[in-house]
Amino acid sequence: MFDYTDRVVAITGASSGIGLEIARRFYLAGANLALCSRSEERVRGAVSSWVKADDPRVLIVSADTSIIKDIYRFCDIAVERFGRIDVWVNNAGIERPMPTIDMTQEIFDAVVNTNFRGYFFGCQRAARDMLQRGKGGSIINIGSVNAVTVVPGQAVYAAAKAAVSQMTKLFAREWGRDGIRVNCVAPGSIPTKINAEKYKDPAADAAMREKIPIGRRGDVSEIADAVLYLASEQASYITGQTLFVDGGLTLVHG
Ligand SMILES: NC(=O)c1ccc[n+]([C@@H]2O[C@H](COP(=O)([O-])OP(=O)(O)OC[C@H]3O[C@@H](n4cnc5c(N)ncnc54)[C@H](OP(=O)(O)O)[C@@H]3O)[C@@H](O)[C@H]2O)c1
Repeated sequence: MFDYTDRVVAITGASSGIGLEIARRFYLAGANLALCSRSEERVRGAVSSWVKADDPRVLIVSADTSIIKDIYRFCDIAVERFGRIDVWVNNAGIERPMPTIDMTQEIFDAVVNTNFRGYFFGCQRAARDMLQRGKGGSIINIGSVNAVTVVPGQAVYAAAKAAVSQMTKLFAREWGRDGIRVNCVAPGSIPTKINAEKYKDPAADAAMREKIPIGRRGDVSEIADAVLYLASEQASYITGQTLFVDGGLTLVHG
């Protein structure tokens, strides 16, 4: 459906879940991939069913996106290998749901630095490369329905994801005339590692399905579909938007 032949796509948090599926879909569409998570080994293992060892189209790096110099290093290595970045996907994320009364500075910093600060500096570093080349590009931030819903225990995560949606608009404005489009894809409830614990009780899973207008939780492929579309030429007049891919969850919840 989308042709990314010879395009260079960098994705953070590609060792599992949504990021892994986004990577697989860009790969099938012909892209060169720069992938990272905190563990090169985990990414390598995760992609091994569709990427051969030493595939020249795939670069895998250990980088912790809560550390700014790691983000810069990941981008530098990708540009060194492929010459440029056409599409940058900020996806790496963590959740630490807990009553606000129990929140510590350490957990607060981990959530904010991964889900917001890392995205900010990822956008900045990718945009620097795109501006320098003068050929534009596309940035996709993976946000969340939590940016607009009000779920007790998610104050820090929700605020970080709301910041991602707002930042997406600001960067779209700052870099629009330079041909850089910036959009956000905000998933609803998608079974992945990040929420496996929360939904291991079948009653919790059923309650969530009950709440969602479409009547089911989503699939990683449905998030990847939105990302490949928004990053593509077919979305050339779309920028600064947050697209909720949530089966209608935000219509009823929050
Ligand atoms: N699943 C959902 O229902 C849902 C809903 C809304 C939003 N989201 C968002 O979707 C994104 C992907 O989450 P997911 O559902 O696919 O969960 P996941 O399966 O747990 O994937 C999270 C990914 O982020 C990576 N990661 C975490 N911290 C990192 C760090 N500091 N540096 C680099 N990589 C890091 C993890 O890799 P390593 O552990 O190997 O580092 C993993 O690859 C997140 O931003 C999440 O907030 C998910």
